[in-house]
Amino acid sequence: MIQSVSNVESLCFRPACLKEELLCKFSEPVRDCCHKVTIVGAGMVGVACANAILFQKITPHLAMVDAFPKKLEGEGMDYSHGSVFIGDPRIDYDTDFCISSNSRVIIIAAGVRQIKGETRLDLVQRNSEILKNIIPILVGYSPNAVFLIVSNPVDILSWVTWKVSGLPVSQVIGSGTHLDSGRFRYLIADRLGIAPSSVHGYIIGEHGDSQVPLWSGVNVAGVQFRDILPNIGLETDEERWYEISKEVVRLGPTVRCLKGYSNTAVGLSVADIVDAILKNTQRVIPVSTLIQGHHEVCHETFLSLPCTIGENGVTNIVRMRVTEFEKKLFQASANTVFNVQKDVKT
Ligand SMILES: NC(=O)c1ccc[n+]([C@@H]2O[C@H](COP(=O)([O-])OP(=O)(O)OC[C@H]3O[C@@H](n4cnc5c(N)ncnc54)[C@H](O)[C@@H]3O)[C@@H](O)[C@H]2O)c1
Repeated sequence: MIQSVSNVESLCFRPACLKEELLCKFSEPVRDCCHKVTIVGAGMVGVACANAILFQKITPHLAMVDAFPKKLEGEGMDYSHGSVFIGDPRIDYDTDFCISSNSRVIIIAAGVRQIKGETRLDLVQRNSEILKNIIPILVGYSPNAVFLIVSNPVDILSWVTWKVSGLPVSQVIGSGTHLDSGRFRYLIADRLGIAPSSVHGYIIGEHGDSQVPLWSGVNVAGVQFRDILPNIGLETDEERWYEISKEVVRLGPTVRCLKGYSNTAVGLSVADIVDAILKNTQRVIPVSTLIQGHHEVCHETFLSLPCTIGENGVTNIVRMRVTEFEKKLFQASANTVFNVQKDVKT
C-alpha cells in the first residue's frame, strides 16, 4: 500500500527542533583542534597562563584540568562567558584528564606554591609526587604534546617529567629563566629609560637563587655593556649594576609578599613559549632543558640556557660564549640543583 505524504508526516510527527531546523548537518566538527593547549592546575598561575594565552588568541582550543572541581568550574564558566569577546575559543574544563586528549602543548601549573621562608627547592618532594601521578596519564592522552613545566622547583620538576614520561627530551621544557630574563631586561631598561624589549640579555641556570646573569652579553643595539664598563655586574663595579642581579632574585618573593602569589608575569612568559611552539618559530628563548655536557656540566640536570623553540619543543641549545667566571657560576648552579634532585625518586 502506498501511503500519502501527509500520512507519513503524521506517523513520524515530532516537535520541530530549532537546531535541526536551522542547521543542515554536513559533517562532524573536528573534536580537538590541532593547536589545542591544556593547562593542568587552575590556580593563580594556571589562570594567568590561560589569560595570557586566550587574550592574545594564541590558541583557539584550551582545556583546563584541576583536582578541585568547584574552583575549576568557576574559572571555566568565567572564561566561557567571555569567549564572545576573545574570538570564540573553545574552552573545556574538567577534573577528568581525558579532556586533555590530543593536545599540542600541556602546561603543568598544578601543585603547591611556596610559603613564606620556603625556597623553590623546598617544594620538590610535594610537587614531584603530584607530577609522578599525573604525567603518565597526560602522556597517554597526548603522546605528541610538548610538556611545559611551570610548577616549582621548575628545573627539577622538568627533569622528573622527562623521567616519568618516557618522552624525547626535546618534548619537555621548563619555563625556567624566561621570566627572570624578562625581569632582568626590565630593570636594566628602567635604569636607562628605554624599552625593556630593546635591552638584550639572558639569565641562565636555575630558576631560583643560584641563577646566573650573563652580564658579558648584555647589549643595546649590539653595543656590549662590557665594552663600556669592563667590570659590569661584578662587585667591583662602581655603578653597582650587580644590584640588579640581586634584585631579580628577590622579585618573585617580593611580589608574593605583596599580593600573596606571583602569576601575571609568569603567565605572559609561558604564553610566549606556547606561541613559539604552536607557530614553530624557532625563536631563541631561555628555557629549562637537559644541559648535560654544556659548559662542562656532567650532571643529568635541567637548567636554563637560550634554546630555539618550535613545534617539537627544543630544537637547539645556543652555545653561549660565557666568561670563565660565568661558567663557574653556571656549574655551581647545576651542583645546587643536582644536590636536591639526587634525592628525588622517580
Ligand atoms: N615557574 C615560575 O616562574 C613560577 C612562578 C610562580 C609560581 N610558580 C609555581 O606554580 C605552581 C602553582 O602556583 P599557584 O600560585 O597557581 O598555586 P595555587 O595553589 O593557586 O594552584 C595550584 C592548583 O593546582 C591544583 N592541583 C593540585 N594538585 C593537583 C593534581 N594532582 N591535579 C590537578 N590539579 C592539581 C590545585 O587544586 C590548585 O588549583 C607552584 O608550584 C608555584 O611555585 C612557578
